[in-house]
Amino acid sequence: MHHLLSVLLLSLFTLVKSAEGGCSRPALKPHVEALGLQQFSPPGTRARLTCVPGYTSHNHWPFIVCTIGESWSTAQFMCQPKSCGYIYAPQNGDMHFEDIVYLSRVNFTCNEGYNLHGVSSVVCQENATWSAPRPECKALTCGPAPVPVYTILVFDVLQRSGESAVFGTKGTYKCLPPMILIGNPRAECTISGKWTEAPVCQSNK
Ligand SMILES: *[C@@H]1O[C@H](CO)[C@@H](O)[C@H](O)[C@H]1NC(C)=O
Ligand SMILES: *[C@@H]1O[C@H](CO)[C@@H](O)[C@H](O)[C@H]1NC(C)=O
Repeated sequence: MHHLLSVLLLSLFTLVKSAEGGCSRPALKPHVEALGLQQFSPPGTRARLTCVPGYTSHNHWPFIVCTIGESWSTAQFMCQPKSCGYIYAPQNGDMHFEDIVYLSRVNFTCNEGYNLHGVSSVVCQENATWSAPRPECKALTCGPAPVPVYTILVFDVLQRSGESAVFGTKGTYKCLPPMILIGNPRAECTISGKWTEAPVCQSNK
């Protein structure tokens, strides 16, 4: 009888104690989460630690335990941002970045005479992938060069006349004899995407 009473008292005491005591929410390292914890956890509770989205852990036992002394055991568990891996600059372009981990941004630019096709920047996402494929830098084109009547355009490097030319393409105008050339004999596809003004060929009178 006496024994039963003390057991009863003891369990009552435990009940009251767990209702008012236990471990309160643990203080965690940055980007670490403890799953499924109540406001207070009774001694003996084991909590699993995880990383918040975009972060990962490479080591350490991912658990903490609420001790009899009503404090959580210490954990070495740490979370680092995930890496999206190296990304390459587009051909004829460049990129600007500080890091390649979660939330890092990489900006792309194209060299002079090249236009950016695609996104101008990408961000490293939660699942360690880049938000878009890297862009392409395509050479700026001027369209076919103008060839006024009685003129011949000889390109510096082989280029089919009547075809779209890229930025920097150059050539020289000549007149069909006996015409003479008035204006600038040189032709160039400029950075504005336009050809320099073509000369005219006139009869020598
Ligand atoms: C990328 O571009 C954004 C917006 O223009 C700018 O705020 C950021 O500083 C740039 N980052 C780098 C690394 O150049
Ligand atoms: C990564 O997350 C992005 C954005 O939520 C999603 O569009 C993409 O499909 C995901 N990629 C993979 C491989 O899960």
